[in-house]
Amino acid sequence: MALKERDEVSGQVTTGHEWNGIKELNTPVPMPLWIFLISMTLFAVTWTVLMPSWPGINTYFRGLLGVDQQVAVRQSLAEAEAERAGWTERLANEDFASLEADDAIMKLVRQTGGVLFADNCAACHGPQALGNLGYPNLARSPMMWGDDIDTVAETIRIGINSNHGETRFAQMLAFGRDQMLPSADIRLLAQYVEGLSGAQTLSGDELAQAETLFADNCASCHGEDAMGMVETGAPNLTDAFWIYGGDRASIRQSIYNGRQGTMPAWEGRLTPAQIRLMALYVVDLRAHAQ
Ligand code: HEC
Ligand code: HEC
Repeated sequence: MALKERDEVSGQVTTGHEWNGIKELNTPVPMPLWIFLISMTLFAVTWTVLMPSWPGINTYFRGLLGVDQQVAVRQSLAEAEAERAGWTERLANEDFASLEADDAIMKLVRQTGGVLFADNCAACHGPQALGNLGYPNLARSPMMWGDDIDTVAETIRIGINSNHGETRFAQMLAFGRDQMLPSADIRLLAQYVEGLSGAQTLSGDELAQAETLFADNCASCHGEDAMGMVETGAPNLTDAFWIYGGDRASIRQSIYNGRQGTMPAWEGRLTPAQIRLMALYVVDLRAHAQ
């Protein structure tokens, strides 16, 4: 180990350490870095003196400037709470018609409701409530359970196929899997249902046969005209809106395996005022969607 050896190329003194013939230069720390480190240390020390910093047993050092974010946060929370108390009361108790007629309330419904929807509903129904595969479009499609605001509020409260004691049940039967209809009939029905919302591709005997099959097996829930029934929660099959897809293969899947979508019940998770707020929000969204 050589001491105070000078490197021939750089002219720097080495540290004397050597690994497999490679020697370490004893380069001094550059001045700008020193200045940076010292000024940052001074800043940190000054900051802990000025601002709330050191913890004690029961309290903490509050800092010479007396800045306390907790006080500021508590103040704005109290303000928000007081502001909300007024309208929470109204949302929970006032009838929907007079809430809908109040511009100030509806402004709040659109703002707060939008946040609440994004937090609780958008994951399934999409950020604009336009639906996702398996989750209905709430902004535009006809409501399976009815679109008057009391019904919507009730659907949100108890859910569909949920674990709520009063849940709505939506049971699209598995006609193929449970061997209620032969495959040939299901294929015919899938083609027939596909044609209900566009151009009917069946004709003659096949069309007549499909109409009979529909009347015998499907009309009790979806209606004679296939326009859906709020009593059973069965959707309209003649429009452009599909929960599970409107192509023939998806429709065949729906008929063969059945569908039982689950809408969670929100009672207990949202307050009664929030549930009514969501109903107002959804109905308002529908009124303004083209
Ligand atoms: C976990 C997914 C999920 C979440 C979260 C969810 N929903 Fe649903 N929702 C569904 C499904 C699935 C259906 C349709 C059930 C069916 O197919 O029968 C539905 C149906 C509905 C309906 C009835 C639609 C109709 O046609 O009658 C309304 C209203 C509704 N949801 C509102 C909401 C609101 C408001 C929220 C947020 C508070 C929400 N949903 C959160 C899955 C969800
Ligand atoms: C017992 C009532 C009931 C009967 C009978 C019934 N359906 Fe349904 N059907 C439903 C319900 C409820 C839904 C919605 C299920 C869901 O969203 O989870 C549905 C959904 C569907 C869908 C999916 C719609 C979409 O938007 O993706 C199709 C297609 C369908 N039914 C066709 C039929 C046909 C064809 C028959 C007759 C062979 C039939 N249904 C019989 C209740 C019924």
